[in-house]
Amino acid sequence: MKNSLKIIVLISVILSLFQSVACKKQDTITIAIAGPMSGPEAKMGSDFQNAVNLAVEEWNNKGGVLGKKIKVLVGDDQSDPKQAVSIANRFVTQGVVAVIGHFNSSCSIPASDIYNRADIPMITPASTNPQLTERGYKNVFRICGRDDQQGMIGAEFIKRKLGVKRIAIIHDRTTYGQGLADEVKKALEGYGQIVYYGGITKGDQDFKPVLTAIKEKSPDMIYFGGIYPEAGLIVKQAREIGIKASFMSGDGTIDPKFIEIAGPASEGTYLTFGQDPEKLPTAKEFFKKYRERFGDPGPYSIYAYDATNVLLTAIREAGSTDGKTIYQKLHELEFKGALGDIKFDQKGDVVKSPYVVWITRKGKFEEYWKP
Ligand code: ALA
Repeated sequence: MKNSLKIIVLISVILSLFQSVACKKQDTITIAIAGPMSGPEAKMGSDFQNAVNLAVEEWNNKGGVLGKKIKVLVGDDQSDPKQAVSIANRFVTQGVVAVIGHFNSSCSIPASDIYNRADIPMITPASTNPQLTERGYKNVFRICGRDDQQGMIGAEFIKRKLGVKRIAIIHDRTTYGQGLADEVKKALEGYGQIVYYGGITKGDQDFKPVLTAIKEKSPDMIYFGGIYPEAGLIVKQAREIGIKASFMSGDGTIDPKFIEIAGPASEGTYLTFGQDPEKLPTAKEFFKKYRERFGDPGPYSIYAYDATNVLLTAIREAGSTDGKTIYQKLHELEFKGALGDIKFDQKGDVVKSPYVVWITRKGKFEEYWKP
């Protein structure tokens, strides 16, 4: 008798534990952020994380979404495609409803295969390689523009504004870096002369051998496809060996870290990125709130904030946490974000993505030229 009573008590304890876990599960909606949270590009990951947390806090303060609080899981891909895939698989197992991320195209593309198979919507704030949205995946979206667009603007600037003719192109051999360099090269076809084209290795610290080879070709301009840790060193070392050529790159270098690494050599360098969000009236609130909480935002913080808000709006409008239902809603939404009106096309690209050219002046990035 005593033993059977014990068993009954034990069973009811286990049952109530199960119930409370199940209840907790139902009480929250779990989304995830993925990006480089450690390693040389960790600044980008923390920019994402701050912005997503800010948006989620705002939703949770108003009661969450579909009557449930939103919980955020974080995945550190260390800018490594293999890590990105392993994180994507983990998110699937953990049952996340949607993913904000990744940062690098080389991570977003392989991870998107996994999210696609699991019908999990993903919105990247920053991955610009065209391939991401060219594979007919209905669950994949981006808030930023594409490298065929920014490569075109970069080339237009080289032709129409700078008029330089001897161009050296280098890239970091990644999906993004090489992809962007190739877009610029393509858009320059029939113009000037590509006096050097080649790759460097991400993570290297000494670029003087390659820069010495470039110097021998007497370029008027060096175009670099890659991210700020390498870009900063390349500009610095180019000046150190007496290369006076102009320097241009893409969105992967617009972070104060680039200026910090390059030092005074960053003065007068150019890059392509979206228009300055500080000038947008729609973004005022975001900048105020972000600065109060975390200090100055990074280049893609506002993109991550809009990615989160558009996602949570789609969940609310869909009235469901079913992946397919959410991404169908994302394709229909006309969303007013901090960056202005956001509408996705059939591929998951934003309909409007105006790239402009920026310059570094007195240690700050400023918008400089538009076609
Ligand atoms: N735009 C960069 C990429 O796609 C960050 O990797």
